[in-house]
Amino acid sequence: PLALPGGLDAPASHRIADRYAAVERPVPGHFENTPDSDPSVGAVREWGAAITERIATSTLGVSAVQQARITSGTTLESALRRVRAAGTAWGSWSGAARGAVLHAVGDALEANRAALIEVMASETGKTIDQADPEVSEAIDFAHFYAELAASLDTVDGASFTPAALTLVTPPWNFPVAIPAGSTLAALAAGSAVVLKPAPPAARSGAVLASVIETALDAHGAPADVMAFLDVEESELGKDLIASPLVDRVILTGAYETAELFRSFRPDLPLLAETSGKNAVIVTPSADLDLAVKDVVASAFGHAGQKCSAASLVVMVGSVAKSKRFRNQLLDAVSSLTVGYPTDPTTQMGPIIEPASGKLLDGLTTLGAGESWAVEPKRLDETGKLWSPGVRQGVRRGSEYHRTEYFGPILGVMVAETLDEAIDIVNEVDYGLTSGLHSLDPGEIGTWLRRIQAGNLYVNRSITGAIVRRQPFGGWKKSAVGAGTKAGGVNYLVGLGSWEPAVARA
Ligand code: SER
Repeated sequence: PLALPGGLDAPASHRIADRYAAVERPVPGHFENTPDSDPSVGAVREWGAAITERIATSTLGVSAVQQARITSGTTLESALRRVRAAGTAWGSWSGAARGAVLHAVGDALEANRAALIEVMASETGKTIDQADPEVSEAIDFAHFYAELAASLDTVDGASFTPAALTLVTPPWNFPVAIPAGSTLAALAAGSAVVLKPAPPAARSGAVLASVIETALDAHGAPADVMAFLDVEESELGKDLIASPLVDRVILTGAYETAELFRSFRPDLPLLAETSGKNAVIVTPSADLDLAVKDVVASAFGHAGQKCSAASLVVMVGSVAKSKRFRNQLLDAVSSLTVGYPTDPTTQMGPIIEPASGKLLDGLTTLGAGESWAVEPKRLDETGKLWSPGVRQGVRRGSEYHRTEYFGPILGVMVAETLDEAIDIVNEVDYGLTSGLHSLDPGEIGTWLRRIQAGNLYVNRSITGAIVRRQPFGGWKKSAVGAGTKAGGVNYLVGLGSWEPAVARA
């Protein structure tokens, strides 16, 4: 957990929250790589100190042989044909056989944990306490989809036909877990994969691809069943997305990117998890200490650069009036240690690129009635290191209320009742994650029935969905396509076709 002042990490708050947690329930099983709650920062920090020097002096380059393999001496079309052919061969394997290979990929990810953390930290500024559980999530995806692959062999009265080629286009903010999850799901479902990294995280993508492809090769998967293709945002990238040789695209990114992809190819079979504008509601019955801790972690983990991040907190009734929650929250935000991942005491790292455009506006410009409760400050010349900001007085329907900023800013809103708070949250166009802090089962029930978001969390932070336990996907403008959830038992079912056709839940 983030170290907050005033003993807010007292274990008692965890115990109370556990008793009342309505949504998150631990399930037995072996998906323990992802920690139950926050990563154990203490342990990770100690280890982080040991690799600090390696990060500072990192010389990891884009060493993935895969890139050379697909781009040298070949056209995009012939490369895609080669990958498709590998996909057809791979898709004829039984799901169980593919699963065995994917378990080995999971083991390879574990064996390369340090290299994956290192490249994420050095390339994207992700702090070690965020990067370490991200590798765990990738490992969980591998073992989970490996198990699901076997289940595709045994569906009564219907047979599953894999896609030949799936294009995976991940975002830069989770440069290991998200590309790993999408790639391994498609492979589990019997498809070949072309992985096109997000340009700001291409090196992380290359290291990941290298680990996966080396393990695939070592375990006898067809050559070229996975190809890494770093084509930047060029004409080649457009040709890739528009190519009829691509059967399906798994995109995680902005809603506008999904629209752009569709403009390249209107009939594109697209499975997209898109933007969010996520809120946490805190009611008077909440464990306020826990609420402060979870709101801070949700809003400022990875400097707010998560589609799942909290961008709004809505204080209900006396929570707003008493000032206790507000003061503790502001105290906690102001006390966050901001820096680079090379310093293991860093709690909040830099943003990926110098702030500009919409994010710069969000960090510097206030709307009508708003004021800074904690003003964000640019901390160095890079334009990447900002202290966290909290804006108060955010009005219903305002620009801040409805816009995703993807940075270290939290807006505070006020509601008289829980119903009003829910209306405020539901008014935004997106519906990715949402949080409630309340120890009242009646309030929890009302909120669960009414709130419009794909992932609901009660008395917990709203980031860091755990594979299988909290399948991840959006609602409204936070999803485009089939709407199955990553890390959930139905995810593979939507990645191929069925004969005879079966209805999807
Ligand atoms: N799965 C991530 C989370 O839950 C977001 O992509 O935070």
